[in-house]
Amino acid sequence: MDRAALLALSRLCALWAALLALFPCGAQGNWMWLGIASFGVPEKLGCANLPLNSRQKELCKRKPYLLPSISEGARLGIQECRSQFRYERWNCLVAAAAPPDTSPLFGYELSSGTKETAFIYAVMAAGLVHSVTRSCSAGNMTECSCDTTLQNGGSASEGWHWGGCSDDVQYGMWFSRKFLDFPIRNTTGKDSKVLSAMNLHNNEAGRQAVAKLMSLDCRCHGVSGSCAVKTCWKTMSSFEKIGRLLKDKYENSVQISDKIKKKMHRREKDQRKIPIHKDDLLYINKSPNYCVEDKKLGIPGTQGRECNRTSEGADGCNLLCCGRGYNTHVVRHVERCECKFIWCCYVRCRRCESMTDVHTCK
Ligand SMILES: *[C@@H]1O[C@H](CO)[C@@H](O)[C@H](O)[C@H]1NC(C)=O
Ligand SMILES: *[C@@H]1O[C@H](CO)[C@@H](O)[C@H](O)[C@H]1NC(C)=O
Ligand SMILES: *[C@@H]1O[C@H](CO)[C@@H](O)[C@H](O)[C@H]1NC(C)=O
Repeated sequence: MDRAALLALSRLCALWAALLALFPCGAQGNWMWLGIASFGVPEKLGCANLPLNSRQKELCKRKPYLLPSISEGARLGIQECRSQFRYERWNCLVAAAAPPDTSPLFGYELSSGTKETAFIYAVMAAGLVHSVTRSCSAGNMTECSCDTTLQNGGSASEGWHWGGCSDDVQYGMWFSRKFLDFPIRNTTGKDSKVLSAMNLHNNEAGRQAVAKLMSLDCRCHGVSGSCAVKTCWKTMSSFEKIGRLLKDKYENSVQISDKIKKKMHRREKDQRKIPIHKDDLLYINKSPNYCVEDKKLGIPGTQGRECNRTSEGADGCNLLCCGRGYNTHVVRHVERCECKFIWCCYVRCRRCESMTDVHTCK
């Protein structure tokens, strides 16, 4: 390993240690794996040296060929979380615990039991399903491949038949469960039991989102594109689409009671009769407003965030800056412009300057 990689590793280890001290709760073993996304080629380090809990290490040793997919799954989930929340007060980045760009940890949000915790767990579990399934379809795995149940048959009368490679999410879902679902019986304390039940539910909700958004792709055959015969296969949606569905679930997430009963139920007494669906996102605690910095919780606050002066939405200066107002800076852009092709053969451009206003929260 080169010096830079070693340095990055030792920094990361210090970060884990700091976080472990901050969040000594039962769920801790469950999120360390996200750090895998920070290692370029995790296979090189080997299962024992990766930030995994004992169960995950065991699984990793038995199936080391899955490491690239685990790493890709973490990367997908983290990237999608940041993308879905880029304009919100909570933007899926925790500055105090994780310097942006180097380490994708969520800190407080992993154990706060809020809607944000729910989203993180769901999107990460979904990311793992997506990347493992991709790898199966690519023929990279011996244990899984395309969905073989969809290789024959179809409907002759409707003019199509199954063909190509249908994504088989079953293996990906099985692996995501095996890798992430930390058994509740292993957690201690009332709070962490409810939190574990919530996390398990949200993991599954994430996986269900991948399964729900499976779609049908077809290709036409026949004389000059007449589409007399079609070959169709099932395919997973883009992860962006899955992220959007989960964001929607986040916005409509359900608050559950923190009392332990046989089953989880809604917190609102007059809504107890409404069933909880397996694809709902659940949370226990109300979220902080994320407006001001809280070093202890690792909440960076919105000071200094760029906002949009004319937007009425979450990215608007009014909402994003929590009513504190904003500063305006003029930013100068220099670019090549009015480029002309000169015969023969080069391009001559002018240098154009433009000024734009950039607003940042006070
Ligand atoms: C499949 O394996 C090849 C070669 O190892 C790799 O380049 C490719 O990214 C893998 N594809 C997926 C989807 O895992
Ligand atoms: C969970 O608890 C069981 C028995 O108490 C133990 O054997 C097992 O190693 C524990 N698993 C983890 C991941 O801590
Ligand atoms: C700001 O918001 C307005 C209204 O939503 C939108 O039209 C505009 O493109 C946004 N500007 C930037 C820089 O995102």
